[in-house]
Amino acid sequence: MSKLFAFSSLVLLIVLALWAWKDYNREWRIYQKTFYALENKGSTGINDKKRENRYEIKQIDLPELKRTDRCITCHLGVEDPTMVKVKLPYKVHPNFSQHPFNEFGCTICHLGQGRATTVKAAHGEVRYWEEPMLPLKYIQASCAKCHLISNPSVAPDLVLGMKKYEEYGCADCHIIDGVGEKGGIDLSLAGKHRSPDWHFAHLKDPQALVPDSQMPNFGLTDEDARVLTVYLLCLRKEEIPSRYVCPSPKSEISEAK
Ligand code: HEC
Ligand code: HEC
Ligand code: HEC
Ligand code: HEC
Repeated sequence: MSKLFAFSSLVLLIVLALWAWKDYNREWRIYQKTFYALENKGSTGINDKKRENRYEIKQIDLPELKRTDRCITCHLGVEDPTMVKVKLPYKVHPNFSQHPFNEFGCTICHLGQGRATTVKAAHGEVRYWEEPMLPLKYIQASCAKCHLISNPSVAPDLVLGMKKYEEYGCADCHIIDGVGEKGGIDLSLAGKHRSPDWHFAHLKDPQALVPDSQMPNFGLTDEDARVLTVYLLCLRKEEIPSRYVCPSPKSEISEAK
C-alpha cells in the first residue's frame, strides 16, 4: 500500500516537474530572454531608464478593430530605434511612427492570428485559421482598408495593380464593384479564393490551376502577377471605424491630382 502511494507520488512529481519545465521554456519566453539580453548590451542611451524586464504575454487590445494582438510578446523591439542591427523578431519596425501600434496593433496590416503565442500559430500557418500572415511582398493589399487605392505615396503596388488590371483588359470578363462586362465573374471580394499564392499561380497560368479555364494566359511577368495579386487581395472588405479612415478622402483626392 505505502509502496503504491510512494510510486504515485513520484509519478505526480515528475509530471509537475515536466509541466513546470515546459512552461519555463515556452517559445515566447526564450525570445524575451534573448531580447532583454540584447537590450542590455546594445542600449544607446535612449532606453537608459530602468526597465522592467518582465516575462509575460504582452498584448494590444483593440476593441474598435475587433482584435487583440499579442505579436509584441516576441516582436519586442518594434518601437525601439536602437534595435537596428539585430535579427527578427527583435528588430525595430520600418516607418513605425505612421501607425502607432497601441492604436493599430499588427494584424490589421499583416493578418495572422493575433492572440496566438507561438510563431507558427501567430503567423497563421495552422489549419482552420483563415487569414495566414500576408507575405510581405503582398502587404500593400492591407493599406486599402483605410487609404485610397489611387494614392501612390501610400501604396504604389495598388496603383500599379489597378493599372495592370486595365492594361490587360481584365474587365472584359470580370466585374469589380459593379464595373465590368455584364455576366462576367465578380472579383469584388477577390473572388472565392483567399490565398495569395493561389492568385499568383492562377494569374501566371490559369489552366494549371483550373483545367479548361477560359481565362487567357497573358504570359505575365512575376512582377505584374505580384501587383495584380496585391490589387485582387485589397478588394476584400473589412469594416473599419471612421476615425481610422485616412485622413479625409477629399484631401487625398485633391493631392493626387
Ligand atoms: C512566438 C514568437 C512570435 C510571435 C508571437 C510572433 N512572431 Fe513574427 N516572427 C517571429 C520570428 C522568430 C520571426 C523570424 C523568423 C520567421 O520568419 O519565422 C518572425 C518574423 C515575422 C515577420 C517577417 C516575415 C518575413 O517574411 O520576413 C513578420 C512580418 C512577423 N513576424 C509578423 C508577426 C505578426 C503580425 C505577429 C502577430 C500576429 C507575429 N509576428 C507574432 C516570432 C514571433
Ligand atoms: C499600417 C500597417 C502595419 C502595421 C499596423 C504593422 N505593420 Fe509590420 N510592416 C508593414 C509593412 C508595410 C512592412 C514592410 C515594410 C518594408 O518592407 O519597408 C512591415 C514589415 C514588418 C516586419 C519585417 C521587418 C523587417 O525588417 O524585415 C515585421 C517583423 C513586422 N512588420 C511586424 C509587425 C508587428 C509585430 C506589428 C505590430 C506591433 C506590425 N508589424 C504592425 C506594415 C504594418
Ligand atoms: C486601419 C487603418 C489603416 C491602415 C490599414 C493603414 N493605414 Fe496608413 N494611415 C492611417 C491613418 C489614420 C493615418 C494618419 C493620417 C493622418 O495623420 O492624417 C495613416 C498615415 C499613413 C502615412 C503617412 C501620412 C500619409 O498619408 O502620407 C503613410 C505613408 C501610410 N499611412 C501608409 C500606409 C501603408 C503603406 C499601409 C499598408 C501597409 C497603411 N498605411 C495602412 C490608417 C491606416
Ligand atoms: C477572356 C476572359 C477573361 C479575361 C480577359 C480574364 N479572365 Fe479571369 N477568369 C476568366 C474565367 C473564365 C475564369 C474562371 C475560370 C478560372 O478560374 O480560371 C476566371 C477566373 C478569374 C479569377 C478567379 C475568380 C474566382 O472566384 O475563382 C481571378 C482572380 C481572375 N480571373 C482574375 C483576372 C485578372 C486579374 C485578369 C486580367 C489580368 C483576368 N482575370 C482576365 C476569364 C477571364
